[in-house]
Amino acid sequence: MSEQHHHHTPADWDARYSSSDRIWSGRPNSSLVDEVSDLAPGRALDVGCGEGADAVWLARQGWQVSALDPSSVALERARQAAAEAGVDISWWLGQLRDTDLPLESFDLVSSFYAPLPIEHEPIERLKSLVAPGGTLLIVHHVDFPGTHADRTGNPAVMLSPALAAEILSGDNAWTLRVNETRERAGKGGPGTFHGDDYVVKAVRSA
Ligand SMILES: C[S@@+](CC[C@H](N)C(=O)[O-])C[C@H]1O[C@@H](n2cnc3c(N)ncnc32)[C@H](O)[C@@H]1O
Repeated sequence: MSEQHHHHTPADWDARYSSSDRIWSGRPNSSLVDEVSDLAPGRALDVGCGEGADAVWLARQGWQVSALDPSSVALERARQAAAEAGVDISWWLGQLRDTDLPLESFDLVSSFYAPLPIEHEPIERLKSLVAPGGTLLIVHHVDFPGTHADRTGNPAVMLSPALAAEILSGDNAWTLRVNETRERAGKGGPGTFHGDDYVVKAVRSA
């Protein structure tokens, strides 16, 4: 998996997903289950949903789920997973920056391991989607390098949870609730070659 940090464009992600029937484990991320289980279900948005395991899990917990990913291959798999689970999810094909998502509408916006280029101001975008009183949950691998190169070799700096925490803690409208690294459950399965999670959770003032 030495190529793991070189999947930058939607086409790159499509190619990566197409390289196998399924990349990820199909189980929800443990940090999602840990952080969301005690929230009252409302409207949720999963940014970079991949094959949809988190979105399906949220829907099963009673959330009304929207899920976004730029890879049509991944979204098709996610659709199938939702159909198999018998849950309804609103799918959005695109990158975080260019989708026409409703602002201030989601009680939970989560993003797990999505490479979001800083130059597109992803934290501002994520914040703008959260409803008053809602929760923003950003998780990445602790060993996430922060700088990725696309196919042409152009480097792009990605949003890290540490940077997200820094920005959120300087914003009066937000309360940082979690800012820590955490052992990741389920290591050793598909897609789990990375180390522990860096978890950032913040709540917007009501
Ligand atoms: C490492 S995968 C994680 C997938 C899923 N969240 C999970 O935990 O299994 C990262 C996902 O982010 C998506 N992605 C890449 N660039 C993105 C962007 N600009 N906006 C939203 N999602 C993006 C990729 O297509 C990919 O499905």
